Amino acid sequence: MKQTVNTLKERKGNNKITMVTCYDYTSATIVDEAEIDTILVGDSLGNTMMGYENTLPVTVDDMIHYAKTVVRGAKNTFVLVDMPFMSYQISVEDAVKNAGRIIKETNANAVKLEGGEIYSDRIKAIVDAGIPVCAHLGLTPQSVNSLGGYKVQGKDIDGAKKLINDAIKVEEAGAFMLVLECVPASLAELITKKLSIPTIGIGAGNACDGQVLVMQDLLGINTKTAKFVKKYANLHDIMLDAFKTYKDEVINQNYPAKEHTYQIKDEILEKLY
Ligand code: KIV
Repeated sequence: MKQTVNTLKERKGNNKITMVTCYDYTSATIVDEAEIDTILVGDSLGNTMMGYENTLPVTVDDMIHYAKTVVRGAKNTFVLVDMPFMSYQISVEDAVKNAGRIIKETNANAVKLEGGEIYSDRIKAIVDAGIPVCAHLGLTPQSVNSLGGYKVQGKDIDGAKKLINDAIKVEEAGAFMLVLECVPASLAELITKKLSIPTIGIGAGNACDGQVLVMQDLLGINTKTAKFVKKYANLHDIMLDAFKTYKDEVINQNYPAKEHTYQIKDEILEKLY
């Protein structure tokens, strides 16, 4: 059954929500088959699909391009799409316009944006326009330059208090869900208890109402990963081995073999010589 904003909210505290990032049609069909609850077309596609150093260069057009392919593959999966850097920061008007474009052009179900109280007017305006918003706090990669790197957030008293306040403000603004990235587990647990909307953790312990991982991390395609990542497969080595074997077999003429080859009748062939 495809999840909705309401069924996801009802899962809080009862039944953990599963989420994985995904950026292409074929992978989306497999995630859909696995009955993962939600797909995030994350702006991490800037790293995983586009080879950028961070998510900052990703545009609304990039997000729409990849999200369209995912929505076509994810027939029964709730799809959220990240609003990229500078698509909502400048003004409320920009935020609503870009969220509207993303939903209109991709047919996804919700958008996600990074930031707390400072963007609660954007969250409210997008929600008022009929678009569900998932908020994202803690390590917010679009702010990598002001955070001074990819670090655990909320470890000191001021940082922890700010995170709690931001979480309450995004809920009050109308967010239906909150991603908590790289936050100490006990702080994520406290925030989860204080909110009535579900929290989705990534590097935030197991008390959150659900979990998200980047697909390439989970599958072990990315070799360098953060401490919080668990690799559920080692596709890097499997893919590398397959590419090398294919290369060798082509060079040695072991591929294509007879079973991979189409035939023509000898009497027809003879007439061609
Ligand atoms: O862009 C992304 O993949 C994300 C997840 C890490 C939550 O925002």
